[in-house]
Amino acid sequence: MRAVQFITPGSAATALKIVDLPTPKPKATQILLKIKAFGLNRSELLSRLYGRAPIGPVPSGRVLGVEATGVVEETGAEVSVSSYPKGAIAMTAIGGMGIAYDGGYAQYCCVEASNVRVLKSQNTQLSWEVLGALPEMLQTAWGCLFRCLKLKAGDKLLVRGGTTSVGLAAAAIAKRHGAAVMSTTRRADSTTHNLLKDNGAEHILVDDDKDLRPAVTAVWPTGADKVLELVGGSSLASSLACLAPEGICCFVGLVGGSPAITDFSPLAMIPTGAYLTAYAERTFQASNFPLDELVQDIEDGSLPVKPGKVFQLNEIVEAHECLEKGESGGKIVVLTGM
Ligand SMILES: NC(=O)c1ccc[n+]([C@@H]2O[C@H](COP(=O)([O-])OP(=O)(O)OC[C@H]3O[C@@H](n4cnc5c(N)ncnc54)[C@H](OP(=O)(O)O)[C@@H]3O)[C@@H](O)[C@H]2O)c1
Repeated sequence: MRAVQFITPGSAATALKIVDLPTPKPKATQILLKIKAFGLNRSELLSRLYGRAPIGPVPSGRVLGVEATGVVEETGAEVSVSSYPKGAIAMTAIGGMGIAYDGGYAQYCCVEASNVRVLKSQNTQLSWEVLGALPEMLQTAWGCLFRCLKLKAGDKLLVRGGTTSVGLAAAAIAKRHGAAVMSTTRRADSTTHNLLKDNGAEHILVDDDKDLRPAVTAVWPTGADKVLELVGGSSLASSLACLAPEGICCFVGLVGGSPAITDFSPLAMIPTGAYLTAYAERTFQASNFPLDELVQDIEDGSLPVKPGKVFQLNEIVEAHECLEKGESGGKIVVLTGM
């Protein structure tokens, strides 16, 4: 099979190598997934740049990729064939993929069956490009909105880092749930602002790293009920300041650099009565989000989720360069040619 290994920290051209490897054999509790498409993620950019993902070191020779979408090819001896029939459309993500063991940048991968979800809607008409964009993006967006932010219809939601793939998906899901959405971007161009509007943002703020609260309260006088913080430690204090009384901020991102918060001072940063939480689910199984409902909503057009850019496996260097520049306008998806 064709696969992409991480070799040594550095540029996409030097750190990533397309290789031929033997197709792996599933252990008793595993599934061999024939991968049709996979999404790219920030944690893989960190793995490639530093040889370290947020959850641990990445050894040389590791096949990267924290998610994969494809079909069940083979099941291990202890896996129920009726739950995971050969050829069924299936998705997997996180749980150590691409970090502790070989991941999704390949034509096949072996993962624990418990971390694989078979789609209920096996006759979906969605393309592999769209399906490949979904597992990590949707589990993160849904987990942040509903498990952490307790989003309700009528809530005013600020998405800090609105053009991230998670931010776009979260805005679309939140709008469909009846929330009002305000999204930030550092860009002032109409293409970016139209992208945000098409994905559910009613209000757009250009983020210039200054105090955002005056701009937020100009629209929502008491502030945002919920804030999804996708940029990172550098913008957390200013995001917390945008909260309405008893509002909740969910910290999840690191596109702005480090997730660490310099000089964290809860008394100074968290408004009285407001809440700060974080989302970092460890397994796809535990994320327990309504994948089938969301796929149905995408299929019937009520959820406008689609990939930002699509590449082929042999274009992995170009795909990673696009990820690094942050210019994809949504999730980057790679097709494996399988
Ligand atoms: N904790 C978890 O479980 C989990 C899971 C998945 C993702 N995440 C995190 O969620 C965030 C979003 O991930 P993603 O894959 O959706 O991101 P992405 O699509 O790769 O994000 C690209 C966007 O990031 C923005 N950006 C890039 N550099 C920035 C900077 N220095 N300051 C502010 N914005 C910057 C750009 O927005 P503009 O140019 O429009 O400003 C760009 O459109 C990431 O931080 C990722 O690590 C966390």
